[in-house]
Amino acid sequence: MRLVKSITETKKIIKLEKNKGKIIGFVPTMGYLHKGHLSLVHIARRKSEFLVVSIFVNPTQFSPDEDLKKYPRDMKRDLKSLKQEGTDLVFYPSVKQIYPSDYKTYVQIKDLSRLLCGVSRPHHFRGVTTVVLKLFNIIKPDIAVFGQKDYQQAVIIKRMVKDLCLNIKILLGKIIREKDGLAMSSRNIYLSTQQRENATVLYQSLKWVKWSFNDGLTNPKKAIKKIRVMIKQNSGKVDYIVAVNKNTLEPVKRLKKGTLIALAAYFGKTRLIDNTIL
Ligand code: PAF
Repeated sequence: MRLVKSITETKKIIKLEKNKGKIIGFVPTMGYLHKGHLSLVHIARRKSEFLVVSIFVNPTQFSPDEDLKKYPRDMKRDLKSLKQEGTDLVFYPSVKQIYPSDYKTYVQIKDLSRLLCGVSRPHHFRGVTTVVLKLFNIIKPDIAVFGQKDYQQAVIIKRMVKDLCLNIKILLGKIIREKDGLAMSSRNIYLSTQQRENATVLYQSLKWVKWSFNDGLTNPKKAIKKIRVMIKQNSGKVDYIVAVNKNTLEPVKRLKKGTLIALAAYFGKTRLIDNTIL
């Protein structure tokens, strides 16, 4: 496994592999890898012949009041895990490489990036699409794998790939959960023991809505109201709870098979997201 920081060097290595006819797989990450990330790496490994994983904590997707500076990092552990998963190249650029001082170009996907997480994080998805497009242009993958936990991100990336005619197949890896159901996230380490326990209500509320839907519940307002109460009872502060069409992210009038229930809530200062598809 090679660790490469330079864009030029990465492009050179990948060109050689492409010339050999290899399928290039790619998983973009911000590091501090957990089993959720590694499950995406595992999918990409199976589907490709040369596997690239990027580790880059992307400043443009954080707003000034967010956790960029204290975002957790553990390069040594990440490299060990990626090697075990059979990664061929880890791309680990500096912020200066990706955003030189005269950097001016940003990519924004209309409408989709203003909904759900985009309401409380208005600049977030512009940062995500900008860096992902840049990484796609450097790595030129045939396939790229994203996680279902960041469902809105995956919808936006798929839209960018379609709208900009990129020749990349986007695959979605399922949410990997802790034993008690909490979705794995690099941010879970910020939670105190009590907050960690309270946060399991997110999965419990999604399980409840699935169960209730199977039992005949079709009113999205009723479902959202109940989830809100459950989260509040566990000291969570709701950012949003939505029942939306899983492709357009527009609210639905009735719950049906395929409806996306997505939510974000704060436990202390830590904002967690989760979702399920009915
Ligand atoms: O999902 C993430 O970790 C990030 O948003 C991504 C896709 C690596 C872009 O910085």
